[in-house]
Amino acid sequence: MPEKEIKDIGNSFFEEISKLSDERALYAVKVKYVGRNGILTKILKNLKNISSEQRKLIGPLANNLRQEIENAFEKRKKELSEQIDWEKEKLDVTLPGKKVEIGRLHPITSVYREIEKIFSSMGFEIVEGPELETDWYNFTSLNFPFDHPARDMQDTFWVKSPKEKMVLRTHTSPVQVRYMEKRKPPFRIIVPGRVYRNEATDAAHEHTLHQFEALVVGNDINVGNFKHIAKQFFSAFFGKNIDIRLRPSFFPFTEPSFEFDISCTVCGGKKCPSCKNAGWLEIGGAGMVNQNVFVSAGYPRNKYQGFAWGFGIERLAMMKYKIDDIRWFESGDLRFIKQF
Ligand code: PHE
Repeated sequence: MPEKEIKDIGNSFFEEISKLSDERALYAVKVKYVGRNGILTKILKNLKNISSEQRKLIGPLANNLRQEIENAFEKRKKELSEQIDWEKEKLDVTLPGKKVEIGRLHPITSVYREIEKIFSSMGFEIVEGPELETDWYNFTSLNFPFDHPARDMQDTFWVKSPKEKMVLRTHTSPVQVRYMEKRKPPFRIIVPGRVYRNEATDAAHEHTLHQFEALVVGNDINVGNFKHIAKQFFSAFFGKNIDIRLRPSFFPFTEPSFEFDISCTVCGGKKCPSCKNAGWLEIGGAGMVNQNVFVSAGYPRNKYQGFAWGFGIERLAMMKYKIDDIRWFESGDLRFIKQF
């Protein structure tokens, strides 16, 4: 008897929900009866396949039952929500809070920001360039002769490439030519960025480093301008008066070239263990821009003068924060980062 069958479905539904006490289970029961593949749904879907006489009889019964099930479900749901013990659910504001971990800036990031702040205040523009660089920008345009040992001065990661010879840039100097191709002097820029050296690591050597290049070009720029700006920068960066010293050196892209030292940030030049009793700390390379580099960038020879330097950011961070091993920076060790 189909009427009996529908009645039974209804009864078993009401019995099931009367025993339930949580809303999720209640919903599952509803789905079991009137969900897409529910027991009652199947009967409703089958109505079109039965004789019209039977349909007249069963159709209204099944449709009514479906409505009753919906109503009963809503009613039971309301009952259940009224049973929640709101006293227990109250928020206890006297409980200690959960500790939220907040991140830190990596010391390299802090130093980047400090450098950018000081140079922006001196009217420098901050410029960036690609880390994957062509042989042209990294070497040739910077006056490195072909097949000259100077190319090995910087241990290079060569990158296989179908077209041009590519490298992971060994310094930020390639951005000099990239920038000058687009801009006419006078200008002053710094170029902070990541560079790579193919070398074994130890406390003083890393394969992945950061540098910042400075490039100042105009009609009458000289070594005196360079010394002045460098002194201003280092004094601001270390928050004390810093002296600087230049020693002769060689780079293909500068003439003359210098090694650049600052007075020891610990003893101020009086000699101490921190500077190995030298009174001075080596910072990096610098020099007056070689005219061949201007020519690479499309400038006329001997029209402009400029100075450039490339200093290591890790080295500055190590001095500022007294870090004794360069490998900490790339270690990913949170205990290290959390100290700054
Ligand atoms: N690019 C050089 C290096 O990384 C440093 C440098 C930059 C020297 C600019 C002179 C002028 O070793």
